[in-house]
Amino acid sequence: MTDETNLRVPIAPQQVDAPLTKMAIFLVLVVADTDGAMDTARGVVSGIDDLVKNVAIRDLTGHLSCTVGIGARVWAELTGRSLPAELHPFREVVGQQHTAIATPGDLLFHIRSERADLCIELERQILQALGDSVTVADETQGFRYFDTRDLLGFVDGTANPVGPDLPEATLVGDEDPDHTGGSYVVVQKYTHPLGVWQKLTTEQQEAVIGRRKIDNVELDDAVSGQKSHKTLSTIVDDAGEHDILRDNMPFASPGQGLYGTYFIGYTRHLWVIERMLERMFIGDPPGLHDRLLDFSTVQTGSTFFAPSLGELTAIADAGSDGATDAD
Ligand code: HEM
Repeated sequence: MTDETNLRVPIAPQQVDAPLTKMAIFLVLVVADTDGAMDTARGVVSGIDDLVKNVAIRDLTGHLSCTVGIGARVWAELTGRSLPAELHPFREVVGQQHTAIATPGDLLFHIRSERADLCIELERQILQALGDSVTVADETQGFRYFDTRDLLGFVDGTANPVGPDLPEATLVGDEDPDHTGGSYVVVQKYTHPLGVWQKLTTEQQEAVIGRRKIDNVELDDAVSGQKSHKTLSTIVDDAGEHDILRDNMPFASPGQGLYGTYFIGYTRHLWVIERMLERMFIGDPPGLHDRLLDFSTVQTGSTFFAPSLGELTAIADAGSDGATDAD
């Protein structure tokens, strides 16, 4: 896991728990169906550590990090390895009023840094190396909004796991030995009709989220009826509570009236995020969906697996002339 105080060398790629930063880029790409595209993409993702080093060394205090995720559609051909046990394309969740849509995405680059220029330079070098082997499905530049608030005005990320709970919640263990140390990643881009949200009273907004706005204190769960976002996204079973790691970022273009939240969740078990989505979009009980969705329009939805750095660099040998060992 990351040593945030180490300014001797760049942060190694695929550190799911890389530092929270002031800026992030979420880049979702589709690999072209042309000769050589898969080979080019394989070369770039397996060599991501060199690209990150190129840029990160120019200011280590910028905490540049990059996590690469690979989607189910290209996994076998790109990596030559067995499919991670739970990896499949994003499954739409259809509720009575809101649908979590599935949108294309073969590669995800989650780039984080304190400095916008470092993020953009790394993105530029990645896209230049990929050339016409990919098309851009979505590119979102996120920014820190005050004390890590979303644009709805609430502190976002509080309930993330810490200490030993963090790797426990995010990294695949012995249950899938070919992919130990990797993490499932789900991304969704939401836009907010801020004017409508601002018509609610602060108390109404707090009931939607489940925390107080000013000081972030958690509210009690509703005893019956409409549940808050924090309650619907809490997954508990006989094994206890199942956490995920979120690194959501606001994005905006006020001149175009565009305000949004980019959701990104890392998890050891993909089913945990899928269960959260079902509870949000279908509701618990069904019909009582997450009211956050009445003020958040979902624009994208894609699922990836972010292999450990060891697994990612090993795929370099998986050319069309032979697959790598799945070990
Ligand atoms: C518009 C999109 C979203 C916004 C603005 C948002 C905002 C928030 C806020 C403000 C909190 C309370 C503070 C915190 O613990 O971070 C929260 C909690 C949480 N959210 Fe979201 N969220 C969004 C989407 C999602 C999605 C799509 C998921 C999962 C699929 C999710 C999962 C969670 C979880 C697990 C918690 C912590 C619950 C707890 O244990 O207290 N969120 N979210």
